[in-house]
Amino acid sequence: MKLVIGIVRPERANEVLEELYRANVRGVSMSRVQGHGGELDRVETYRGTTVRMGLAEKVRFEIAVSEEFVDTTVDALAEGARTGEVGDGKIFVLPLERTVRIRTGETGESAVTPIDGGVAR
Ligand SMILES: Nc1ncnc2c1ncn2[C@@H]1O[C@H](COP(=O)(O)OP(=O)(O)OP(=O)(O)O)[C@@H](O)[C@H]1O
Ligand SMILES: [Mg+2]
Repeated sequence: MKLVIGIVRPERANEVLEELYRANVRGVSMSRVQGHGGELDRVETYRGTTVRMGLAEKVRFEIAVSEEFVDTTVDALAEGARTGEVGDGKIFVLPLERTVRIRTGETGESAVTPIDGGVAR
């Protein structure tokens, strides 16, 4: 199992979700983050102090997948997020040791695979 993290432009988040859905990737978490992608020329003021590393609003996707879904998930993130301009984002793939589906107690690969027909409450 792997944890795929994608940090993308907020305005591309819907396209990423669309691509993930098309690729049959279902379990996903999203959060708003602020990040810096190496552009050193921007000088900004943060809490009264001048900082050289300005932060940009980004959206962070976290997707836990079984091995067979890793490439599909990375491709979906990249395709949904790409504009071709500086700042399109980054994808990180991390080893994932353990997953537990709380409701059933299932662990491992069966816990990252959604159960068909389940309706979220
Ligand atoms: N090395 C990193 N570690 C953690 N987060 C990062 C890293 N690089 C980029 N990010 C996150 O990704 C966001 C987008 O980064 P960005 O797209 O600018 O990456 P980049 O490598 O500079 O690519 P580009 O050349 O297209 O700008 C950043 O705002 C930050 O949240
Ligand atoms: Mg950058």
